[in-house]
Amino acid sequence: MDIETLQTELMAAIDSAGTLEALEAVRVSALGKQGSVSALLKTMGGMSPEERQTQGPIINGLRESITSALAAKKAELETADLNRRLATERVDMTLPAPDAPRGTIHPVSQVMDELAEIFADMGFAVAEGPEIEDDWHNFTALNIPETHPARAMHDTFYFPDEMARDGQKMVLRTHTSPVQIRTMTSQEPPIRIIAPGRVYRSDSDATHTPMFHQIEGLVIDKGIHLGHLKWTLETFLKAYFEREDVVLRLRPSYFPFTEPSVEVDVGYSVINGKRVIGGSEGWMEVLGSGMVHRKVIEACGLDPDVWQGFAFGTGVDRLAMLKYGMDDLRAFFDGDNRWLQHYGFNALDVPTLSGGVGV
Ligand code: PHE
Repeated sequence: MDIETLQTELMAAIDSAGTLEALEAVRVSALGKQGSVSALLKTMGGMSPEERQTQGPIINGLRESITSALAAKKAELETADLNRRLATERVDMTLPAPDAPRGTIHPVSQVMDELAEIFADMGFAVAEGPEIEDDWHNFTALNIPETHPARAMHDTFYFPDEMARDGQKMVLRTHTSPVQIRTMTSQEPPIRIIAPGRVYRSDSDATHTPMFHQIEGLVIDKGIHLGHLKWTLETFLKAYFEREDVVLRLRPSYFPFTEPSVEVDVGYSVINGKRVIGGSEGWMEVLGSGMVHRKVIEACGLDPDVWQGFAFGTGVDRLAMLKYGMDDLRAFFDGDNRWLQHYGFNALDVPTLSGGVGV
């Protein structure tokens, strides 16, 4: 078969290929290992130099024209295929989205955001400290020396001795109070911070879990007294419970790091058999507080005759339970989807003072 006839036939075959598969078959029949064009190319090896000079360009020209015809036809078929799919396949962008997002904000996160919002309005910054804490920050600097019975009170999780750092035994922090120390040793007073975070104690029942959340507050300035503490706590609790009739009861108490120390109760009323914050039919303890002990101020390298302040600490989970009506703390950390759907918050319900911190 002469080259011209072969070319005409191949071109006709390419032209009439209706699918990519048919076109591929034509390609294999011409340019594949056993293909007609490949066979011609192989004959060039046995040609005399003169013959090769005349036949070479013809055979190579055939290969080139077939190759480019194949490519052009392939592009044409692919475009046709895409157009067909565009015309027949549909994605309906008008399908309704689910009415409610499925994830929820955990009440602990929500309450922490509410607290940060309330305290930011009073000029408090948010501070943080490590959950793996050394003995000095968690106890000693807070005026809880080695032999102090308060150490036993905390049911501390201690790390093995081999994990001591700079001769300090390491613990999972038992409260957020070490952040007081970290803040006083790293910032110049005046100081106004809150420190929310996880804390750990070896304790577990309906109202205690081995991990729970606290929020610490610390103010260090000149001439700070118990009146500032009382006003701050009253303002905070009224904003948090969103009621003007929140009544506080301050009871003398004891913490090694505050002197004097006060425990704070909020009054509740019983309405239809349920406890509701407000009034003073009964009392619930909500936080521990006091004037920062001068030994603590000294341990942080400050002069207690110049700088005074108050501190408070409260359980975030407990505050959430009181405001949103959960009664078992353990459920907070079970990850049960039904509980999370019921008690969780919409991601768009960001607490703001103007819009109300609650939901
Ligand atoms: N750290 C104390 C606790 O965990 C609470 C507290 C903080 C008390 C600050 C007084 C001042 O019980």
